[in-house]
Amino acid sequence: MYTYEELKQFVDHCSRCPLARTRNKAVMGKGNLKSPVMFIAEGPGSNEDRDGVPFTGRSGELFDRMLAGIGMSRDEIYLTNIVKCHPPGNRDPQPEEKEACIPYLKYETILLRPKIMVCLGRVAAQRIIQPDYRITRQHGTFLLRKNVWLTAFYHPSAVLRDPSKLVEMEADFQKLKAKIEEAEEKRNGS
Ligand code: URA
Repeated sequence: MYTYEELKQFVDHCSRCPLARTRNKAVMGKGNLKSPVMFIAEGPGSNEDRDGVPFTGRSGELFDRMLAGIGMSRDEIYLTNIVKCHPPGNRDPQPEEKEACIPYLKYETILLRPKIMVCLGRVAAQRIIQPDYRITRQHGTFLLRKNVWLTAFYHPSAVLRDPSKLVEMEADFQKLKAKIEEAEEKRNGS
């Protein structure tokens, strides 16, 4: 069993796939390691590649706004990506890149043991929930797998491209708030 810090070291020095050759910085997840909520996005963009931190760009601002809307901040959640290195030109990560990186995500879930996992966007939802996941139809629905609630929301950059999705995104965050409260009540035995 590795510690979180050791895992971060592996990620920072990883060369398991070709993205290692083009990245500037690998981007390990970040946030509260005790949080019951883990968000999983797709992969670092160019801002994140420069900074080494997930969601520092405009999508990050929108994400923070959504969290604030349910009275939360990044200090209360954990945020990570399917691939930890920036795919050049913001293309979708290739299957072999996702598979090379997935052990790191598995290890993050072993260390954090989240109660709720929220995929941000199609790429994460199709890798984590089901291969034919339809984000437009299924976003915001929760399913219980191995005692963990799984759901997917629109990716913030999809909402920035199409602001008509904003209302649905806000509604999904409200559902998340209710699910967090439900999980807390269960934990407290009330
Ligand atoms: N988009 C992602 O999917 N992840 C990030 O960390 C930033 C932008």
